[in-house]
Amino acid sequence: MGSGSQPSAGARRLRSQLWFDNPDNPGMTALYLERYLNFGLTRAELQSGKPIIGIAQTGSDLSPCNRHHLDLAKRVREGINAAGGVAFEFPVHPIQETGKRPTASLDRNLAYLGLVELLYGYPLDGVVLTTGCDKTTPACIMAAATVNIPAIVLSGGPMLNGWWKGERTGSGTIVWKARERHAAGEIDYAEFMDIVSSSAPSVGHCNTMGTASTMNGLAEALGMSLPGCAAIPAPYRERGQIAYETGLRAVEMVWEDLKPSDILTREAFENAIVVNSAIGGSTNAPIHINAIARHIGIDLTNDDWEKIGYDIPLIVNLQPAGKYLGEEFHRAGGIPAVVNELMKHGKIRENAVTANGKPIGENCRGREREGEDVILSYDTPMVDKAGFLHLRGNLFDSAIMKTSVISDDFRKRYLSNPKDPNAFEGRAIVFEGPEDYHHRIDDASLNIDETCLLFVRGTGPIGYPGGAEVVNMQPPAALIKKGILALPCIGDGRQSGTSGSPSILNAAPEAALNGGLAILQTGDRVRIDLNKRTADILISSDEYEKRRADLVAKGGFPFPDHQTPWQEIQRSMVAQFDEGMVLKPAVKYQRVAQTKGVARDN
Ligand code: FES
Ligand code: MG
Repeated sequence: MGSGSQPSAGARRLRSQLWFDNPDNPGMTALYLERYLNFGLTRAELQSGKPIIGIAQTGSDLSPCNRHHLDLAKRVREGINAAGGVAFEFPVHPIQETGKRPTASLDRNLAYLGLVELLYGYPLDGVVLTTGCDKTTPACIMAAATVNIPAIVLSGGPMLNGWWKGERTGSGTIVWKARERHAAGEIDYAEFMDIVSSSAPSVGHCNTMGTASTMNGLAEALGMSLPGCAAIPAPYRERGQIAYETGLRAVEMVWEDLKPSDILTREAFENAIVVNSAIGGSTNAPIHINAIARHIGIDLTNDDWEKIGYDIPLIVNLQPAGKYLGEEFHRAGGIPAVVNELMKHGKIRENAVTANGKPIGENCRGREREGEDVILSYDTPMVDKAGFLHLRGNLFDSAIMKTSVISDDFRKRYLSNPKDPNAFEGRAIVFEGPEDYHHRIDDASLNIDETCLLFVRGTGPIGYPGGAEVVNMQPPAALIKKGILALPCIGDGRQSGTSGSPSILNAAPEAALNGGLAILQTGDRVRIDLNKRTADILISSDEYEKRRADLVAKGGFPFPDHQTPWQEIQRSMVAQFDEGMVLKPAVKYQRVAQTKGVARDN
């Protein structure tokens, strides 16, 4: 790679020249130009046909997971300049997974909308998407897909490994574990806080295979970043180096006119699904990947996730499913080594083109994994069949379950009845959101025992709003003390990618749309059959219809008032999780840089 493919200036008229070098409209050109000179750019730089490359900056004090992009952007800029481009850095609406109420997921589509306007309405020929924290990655790629100018992902990389008393403490995952110990009375509140803080020892995003590592890994598997980009820990020197190379490459992509629509093909999405199983990726991935697919115009469904992904083994030994963290994953070879291992078994669409202009097969062939224990061989995996099951029934039309995190104990308790293997029935305990769960989980009158299934509803894209990460619910303290660490959990919300619970989640339609979950009652018998992929309330269809009619007569399933304009706007147009939680009216705007021309003069 280098500036070899940089043609002489003026070889092809670029989009940005419609702003900065338009002889047909000198008045407007002057007006467009003058304000961009005032921070020291020269007319020559802006008028000689150099590609203008945006740096979509997602880092800020509000989004610490991505904050070091403020520094990395300097290296991106140097790369852009070295390749003959001009860099324009600008902010993206910040998204902080753990800091934003009611949920960061509410803001993914807001950041998407904002970035679409910026990429379309300003003189940008290409863009470097700085990604990291969970929703920043899909928000940026969705916007690049809609606008379809050359775009390349620069991941921020995970934090260094966390350690506590000689043991790895991984982002998020340690919270679930420390909570169990706190609930069991083994540690006090101060030690609980210290343990959790130890998991965040440096800049960077979550160091577990949570949603951040998943989505950056899948961005690479989709071909949207340079090979090896996703796994480099944030503070490592290679992170600055790949930032430079990413800037360099962004300019070349403009001259090659290599656009998201060339990269985000059906084959690329199939690769992402396969890689997601192999890395033990987050249950948030189908939501975001389906959203990206919808914005680029590829038909991708949760059935595809099961069909393409379910049989793929888990070969990455990272928390929450395994033992290690981001630093070891990088040293073991990261995504290229995973892809190489999958390629040996014919599981990768090798011809899918990537951001460096080469097919993924060529990028990854021979990138052997280092060691045996962090990235395992395909033939001796951590877990067979590590993908998602796609369930449906009278409870919902679509929900997914990550089976790779089912513990031996859970399997023995719920899935090993010889007369009814892979199926279980139980008594439903229904909670109206996380607050209700916290209030009542230890209420003795609920009589919660190991035959119960915990439900939470009102937690979907409309109900919460935004879709809360709350489906993984701890059993009552009394059961935990007896050694029962997990009950089956089901809900219309999401679950943190750092959680190791085998929940059934992302249920659609959600309760707020009067879906089956809305008519469920505490005490109902519910049957889950993983062989048949079904989830049903065991009541007659007459009773089912009567309950629904009663609910509708009462005005439908209630949800809290809108608190902000955006909550109301998004609720009025958001799709369900299985359709990527996209803004429905946005999907018809595809490749707008090509299909809609350029916007009218300012
Ligand atoms: Fe931002 Fe996990 S909270 S990456
Ligand atoms: Mg999350």
